[in-house]
Formats: sequence, C-alpha cells, structure tokens
Amino acid sequence: MRPMVTSADLLIVKVGGSLFSDKMTDRQLDEQALQTYAQLMASLYRNAPGHVIMISGGGSYGHHAVRCIDESDELSLLSLGMINFELKCVWHEQLKRCGIKSYPLHLASMTSCVNRENFDSSAKFVNKLLYAKYLPLVTGDALLNEQGVLEVVGSDYVAGAFKDLEFNKIRIVIMTDVPGVLQKSATGQFETIKEIDQFNDPAQWLWETPEGDTSGAMQGKIAALLKQAKWGAECFIVEGQACLKNPRWLFEEHSDWPEEFKSTQIIWRENNAKDTEGY
Ligand SMILES: Nc1ncnc2c1ncn2[C@@H]1O[C@H](COP(=O)(O)OP(=O)(O)OP(=O)(O)O)[C@@H](O)[C@H]1O
Ligand SMILES: [Mg+2]
Repeated sequence: MRPMVTSADLLIVKVGGSLFSDKMTDRQLDEQALQTYAQLMASLYRNAPGHVIMISGGGSYGHHAVRCIDESDELSLLSLGMINFELKCVWHEQLKRCGIKSYPLHLASMTSCVNRENFDSSAKFVNKLLYAKYLPLVTGDALLNEQGVLEVVGSDYVAGAFKDLEFNKIRIVIMTDVPGVLQKSATGQFETIKEIDQFNDPAQWLWETPEGDTSGAMQGKIAALLKQAKWGAECFIVEGQACLKNPRWLFEEHSDWPEEFKSTQIIWRENNAKDTEGY
C-alpha cells in the first residue's frame, strides 16, 4: 500500500460486529475476518502512529451479553464490560501478530457518562496513550451515570468519549456490512444516501431492526454520529469490505474520495432555526 496522507488529525474507526461475527450467536468469531480487519487496522496505524483509535463492535459478544442482562439486577449490566474485555483481548492478540501495540481500554474505568449517549471527559489518559504511540482499543461498556447508576453504552456511541482529545480535526468512520445508509431508487435498486443531517427523518429509509439486535442497527449509528457531528467530528458510515480495498481514502479529504468508495456522511448543520432539542 502506498503511504497515505492524513487529512484528519485523529481517525477513530469502528469495526462493526457484523464484519467478524453473527450477533445472534453466543461468542462465535470469524477468525479469518478478525485477521483481515486487524491487518487493516495495522495498516491504518502504521500510516499515522498515535493518530488512530479502534472501536470494536460487540457482535456475538456484546449483543449476547445485553440480551442476557437481568433487568432486576443492576450488577448484571457489568457482564457487558467483562465480556467485551475478552473481545478486546482477542483483538489485542490479533494486532500483536501484526506487530501493533494496542492498549485495551476498559471504558468504564476511565470515564463516566451523563447518560448512555453523552460522556464526561476522559481525555487525559488517552492523550498520553496516543502520545506513546499505542493504538487505543475500545468497546461498548456499562458506565456509571450522573445518578450513580450503571448504563449500557453501545459501541456506536463510544467515539463520544474522545471528544476532548487534543486534536483539531477528528474523523469517525463506522465500518459495517452495508455501503452506508441505503434507499431504494426509482428503478428499485438500492443506492447510498450521501448525506444525512439532523433534519432528515431516518425512519423513511430504515428497515425493521431484527429482534435480538441490541444496538438499533443503522438507526443507532445515525443517532450516535449526529451526536458526534454536533461537537465537530467528521462522521461517516462505510462498508468494511470497501475499506479493505481502499484503506488510504480513510485518511484523505472526503472531497477526493472516488465515486466507487460509497459513504454516508452524517452532518450537523449549524445556524438553523429548527428545533433540534434532544441532541
Ligand atoms: N436503510 C438502511 N440502509 C442500510 N442498512 C440498513 C438500513 N436499515 C436498516 N439497516 C440494517 O443495518 C445493518 C447494519 O447495522 P448492524 O447493527 O447490524 O451492524 P454492526 O453494528 O456492524 O454489527 P453488530 O450490531 O452485529 O455489532 C445492516 O446490515 C442492515 O440490515
Ligand atoms: Mg450494531
């Protein structure tokens, strides 16, 4: 791969659970896929050491853990963080084989949340990790909220924990099993929606989330990225497969991305009088 340029100071990449597991199973992983995406993360890291963070989707680990939560027992929420820590260890080993020093972060030990969608600052330690050229490795977790109660925070939202890092331009890329948010064209073909902002109603495009999916599928990603776009991150939903073919574009200016590298950008539009309460 030829050296990439870096148009983002910090690249936060989520590898969707759908890319390496079947969320309906209990902790089954696709070894080959893990290897492939670890190699992708390694190549991104090598292009810009200290400028990349990896988030792993929960897949068959996280979804299964959330499905098993006993609502009457607050402590049972902790199982999500524990199981996801096992998943981070799996990634850590894969990345180690690629020669990359990743640092699995137990999100719940480094930050708390206002609620499951908004975080307190956790910048200091992560800044140090990046400075030391580690690849921070994060997943969803059960975090303490302002009322001192545990809340499940899904991996689509995790990037919000990094909003106070010392970087001018932060890009968040969510990789999943489809080429962005799709809609049916007049000819009946699916096409990628290029931009979505807070004034669009995603319900018009989204199909029903299957029972057993605990992340809200595409709707969860759009809602989570609107939050991050609001604080200034540049946010995209892309297909993992396409990133394997085109990793260099993840660092380059969005305006330079070729037509065949499909993406949905989630945008927060400022200075608009419409009501945006709730974000
Ligand atoms: N309009 C839409 N366009 C694209 N995908 C959509 C749309 N509506 C719903 N989806 C669903 O969203 C899914 C992607 O989200 P999903 O949560 O399944 O993936 P993930 O987060 O990568 O993996 P996981 O949740 O297993 O960890 C797609 O596979 C698709 O089924
Ligand atoms: Mg999901």
